[in-house]
Amino acid sequence: MAALIKQTKPAKWIILWFTVSSLLVLWDVGYCLMRPHSMFNGKYNWLWRPYNLYAKVDHFYGPEAIAANDGFTAAQSWLNLIETIINLTYVKMATDKQTNLGVANLVGFSAAVMTLSKTVLYWLNDACSGWSHTRHNDLQSLILLWVIPNGAWIVFPAFIVLALGKDLKSRLQGSTASTIKVE
Ligand SMILES: *[C@@H]1O[C@H](CO)[C@@H](O)[C@H](O)[C@H]1NC(C)=O
Repeated sequence: MAALIKQTKPAKWIILWFTVSSLLVLWDVGYCLMRPHSMFNGKYNWLWRPYNLYAKVDHFYGPEAIAANDGFTAAQSWLNLIETIINLTYVKMATDKQTNLGVANLVGFSAAVMTLSKTVLYWLNDACSGWSHTRHNDLQSLILLWVIPNGAWIVFPAFIVLALGKDLKSRLQGSTASTIKVE
């Protein structure tokens, strides 16, 4: 009865990615919501030095977005805050032996769907405005500093959606099977 065998421990790579990426994203949220103080020449820029380079690559993060009064960067940061709360709830539930792992995985699955769809929206937003925030880059900086780091937020959540989705599917099918058996 392979379908009824359920994983009882969360996958380590999933817990690791959820934890590390949530901390990184909190740093990002800080940068976005503290603008302009977090930016180059801002009084808190020392906390976000690496962003001085990134802001040149992605104008969503640079003075251009501030000048245009473009709210997208801040809007997605507010969503990120909610996502971080759900993410850390998943990590807590999945690593707590008292909690049913299936329930934890439902929370993690929902968070990963949110991340995936938000990151795709981030790319589409730029694509649909003629790549106006990234078009100025040469190919090498675009790939190294934009496609790879941002791509990670599509690839990992996509694999997590698949892994947790598969787990949830087998649990749901398992419970149906046992209901039928009982009847
Ligand atoms: C939440 O978790 C996903 C993994 O599913 C991760 O990619 C993302 O960075 C996390 N989001 C936030 C806002 O912490």
